[in-house]
Amino acid sequence: MTDAFIATLPKAELHVHLEGTLEPEMLFALAGRNRVELPWPDIGQARAAYTFTGLEHFLPLLFQAASVLRGGQDFYDLAHAYLTRAAADGVRRTEMFLGVQTFLDAGVPIAEQIDTVLAAISDARTDLGIDGALIITCQRHRSQTAALEVLDLIEPWRDRILGIGLGAAERGNPPAKFADYYTAARARGYRTTIHAGEDGPADYVREALDVCRPDRIDHGVAAVTDPALLGRLRDEAIPLTVCPLSNVALRVVPSMAAHPLRAMVAAGLLVTVNSDDPPYFGGYVNDNYEAVRTHLGLDRATLATLARNSFRASFDDQHRIATHI
Ligand code: ADE
Ligand code: ZN
Repeated sequence: MTDAFIATLPKAELHVHLEGTLEPEMLFALAGRNRVELPWPDIGQARAAYTFTGLEHFLPLLFQAASVLRGGQDFYDLAHAYLTRAAADGVRRTEMFLGVQTFLDAGVPIAEQIDTVLAAISDARTDLGIDGALIITCQRHRSQTAALEVLDLIEPWRDRILGIGLGAAERGNPPAKFADYYTAARARGYRTTIHAGEDGPADYVREALDVCRPDRIDHGVAAVTDPALLGRLRDEAIPLTVCPLSNVALRVVPSMAAHPLRAMVAAGLLVTVNSDDPPYFGGYVNDNYEAVRTHLGLDRATLATLARNSFRASFDDQHRIATHI
């Protein structure tokens, strides 16, 4: 049960992968709609497969499940379901990732992906009062050339896309591999985020700051091993979008009780709490707040600080300035 204070706390969610919000029920519904074979006989066994040894174990399963998304209606339904769930968690603003390369490979045209998600965002603003925005992510196990091609592909939507990011397999794919992608994205006016210091080392966070100069770091938990880096993140007020349940599920940390979130808050970092890929890791944003409240003993003032941080770290000026709490 979610604590009443958390349930009603207005919050922004800044780190959630739309393709990672696919609940097993919708997975099977879309597999039926699109006649896609799944390796699991039923919903229960699919859910049972959501136990991971790490990021590299999780990613192929994520991509396989995402293969059921084939047409525009699928993307609309996915985004609508997440936005409905997020609004129920008190999320007022959400900046959602979509990893378009997975779907381009499967033959889904870019317009079918983006137009439908933007339509769901628009409808949710009217119907649910939640303010959504789209961040296009590329995958770091692919080439920088492929990422630069994505920037060209999304150009017709430039004014309606908030930013770009980078996810997928971190180790062995350091930030510097994508230096030109970040320079090009910034030149086109996009806000920028980068997954760094999830299962990669603190040095990747430093390299990301030096070479990619992102507006936010996604995860960044590895920075706790490096006091000088912590000082820099604090002094430069770089937001970190931390995903506690994800970090436990992917064994980035040994347990929730051992999660460094409390230390990151104590170090004065602009830390936020987010869900990453909720059905895969055991919960939506409020479940993540609840987990850190329970296992790290965070009091209401700290929980409110985390929620306030989420608006401060938003890419939308109105939310940054507004005093939601
Ligand atoms: N894509 C979806 N979830 C991810 C994660 N936790 N790390 C990197 N890429 C991702
Ligand atoms: Zn992520």
